[in-house]
Amino acid sequence: MSKTLLRGGRLVDPANGRDGVFDLLIDGDRIARVGRDLPIEAGVKVVDVPSGLVVVPGLIDMHVHLREPGQEHKETVATGTASAVAGGFTAVACMPNTNPVNDNAGVTGYILAKAAAANLARVYPIGAVSRGQKGEQLADIAELKKAGCVALTDDGHPVSTALLMRRALEYAGMFDLPIIEHCEEQTLKSDGVAHEGFHASALGLRGIPGECESIMASRDIALAELTRGIVHIAHMSARQTLDAVRYGKLRGAKVTCEVTPHHFVLTDEMLGAPMAYDTNVKMNPPLREDADRDAMLAGLKDGSIDVIATDHAPHHADEKQVEFDRAPFGITGLETAVSLCFDRLVHAGVVSLPRLIELLSVNPARILRVPGGSLAEGAPADITILAPDMNVTIDVKTMKSRSKNTPFDGWTLRGGVAATIVGGRVVYVNDSMDFRI
Ligand code: DOR
Ligand code: ZN
Repeated sequence: MSKTLLRGGRLVDPANGRDGVFDLLIDGDRIARVGRDLPIEAGVKVVDVPSGLVVVPGLIDMHVHLREPGQEHKETVATGTASAVAGGFTAVACMPNTNPVNDNAGVTGYILAKAAAANLARVYPIGAVSRGQKGEQLADIAELKKAGCVALTDDGHPVSTALLMRRALEYAGMFDLPIIEHCEEQTLKSDGVAHEGFHASALGLRGIPGECESIMASRDIALAELTRGIVHIAHMSARQTLDAVRYGKLRGAKVTCEVTPHHFVLTDEMLGAPMAYDTNVKMNPPLREDADRDAMLAGLKDGSIDVIATDHAPHHADEKQVEFDRAPFGITGLETAVSLCFDRLVHAGVVSLPRLIELLSVNPARILRVPGGSLAEGAPADITILAPDMNVTIDVKTMKSRSKNTPFDGWTLRGGVAATIVGGRVVYVNDSMDFRI
C-alpha cells in the first residue's frame, strides 16, 4: 500500500480541534497519522504543502442533482462527480428526481454502480419519500435504506400533505433517516417564477413570496416535534424560514437546515439589467431581497445554519434558452461554491475558515450519518486542499459539468481548490497552480 506524507501547510480539522501547521500521513485509503514533524519512513512519497494552502477534511455537498438515470443530456454520475472533485467535494448526496425516480433499490443500485465505475467522488443516494415522488403513497423506506440511501426527499416538490409528512417522519425515524424537505406551499407558489417584489413586478414576472417557504417549513418542524422524526430544511431562501428553524431548534425539534451559495451571495436585483430575463437567475427557491440575503449571512455567522449545499441543478442550454416563464428552475453549483464561500464569507469576515469547514464537511457528514468530516487517524483519506488566496475567474468553458447554467460566469473571486483526494487517491489537481501532488 502506498504512503504519502502531506508535510506542512495549515491543517484545519474542527472535528478534532486542530488548526495549525501539521503533517498528515496517508496509508492506502486511510489517514494513518496527524502530527507535527512526523518522521519520514522509507518508501513514503513526501509532498510539501506550501504555507498558503490549507488541508481540510473532504468537502461534502448534500444537495446535488446528478440527473442519471434519465436525463443524461444534462449530467451523468460520471460528469457530475468530475464536477464535484474539481470543486473540492469528495462526496455528494444525489437527489431522487431522476427518471425513473429513485424510489426503489433498483435505481439506488444503478446510481451506486455508476458511481463505482466513475470512481471519483463518493456518491450517497437520497431516496424519494413517496412513490414516483407523486405525493400519494410512501416509498418502501426500509428497502431504500438497505440499498444505501442516506436520506429521503421529494425534492423539486414538498412532501404533498401533512399526513404523508407525518407518516414519513415516523417511518424514516425508525431507520434514523432524515427527511430533507423542499419547502414550498403549493397554492402560494402557484405558477410563480421569481421572488414576489419590485424586480419581478418590473419585469412582469409572477411572484413567489417568502412565506411560501416558511409556512411549509413551520408545518414540517411542527411535525418533526410531534413524531420525534428528523427534518432537514433544504436550500433556505427566506428570512422567515430561518426564524422558523431557529424557533424549532430552541424548542428541541430535530431540525437542521442548509443554504446555497447563490442565496447568500445574490438577490432578486439580478433579475434586472444586465441579466434581465436571463434564465440563469431562475432557480427554486428564487433569489430574494437584501434582508433575506443578510439574514442568511447572519445565520451562517451565528451558527443557526448548519450546512452550505449547492443544489447543483444542471440543465441543458437548449432547455434554458427559452422565455423566463418556461425555463426549468436551477443552476449548477459544484464548481463555484468554494470560491464564493471564500470570497463572500471567509475573506469578507462573515465566518472563520474552521466554521466554513463545519458547514461544508463536518455537519453534512453528521446529518447524513456518513463517514467524513474528520481528519482523525484511521478515518478514510478524503481530503481537500484549499487555496484561500488563489484568484479564480469562473469560466464555464473549463467546467467539468455537462451543463453550463450558472450566473457566475466571468466572475473573479479570491479562493479556490488546489487538489482533491478520495480514499487516498488524488482525483483532482488544479493545473493552473504550481502545486503538484
Ligand atoms: O432550482 C431547482 N432545481 N430547485 C429544485 O428544487 C429542483 C432543481 C432541479 O431538479 O432542477
Ligand atoms: Zn429543491
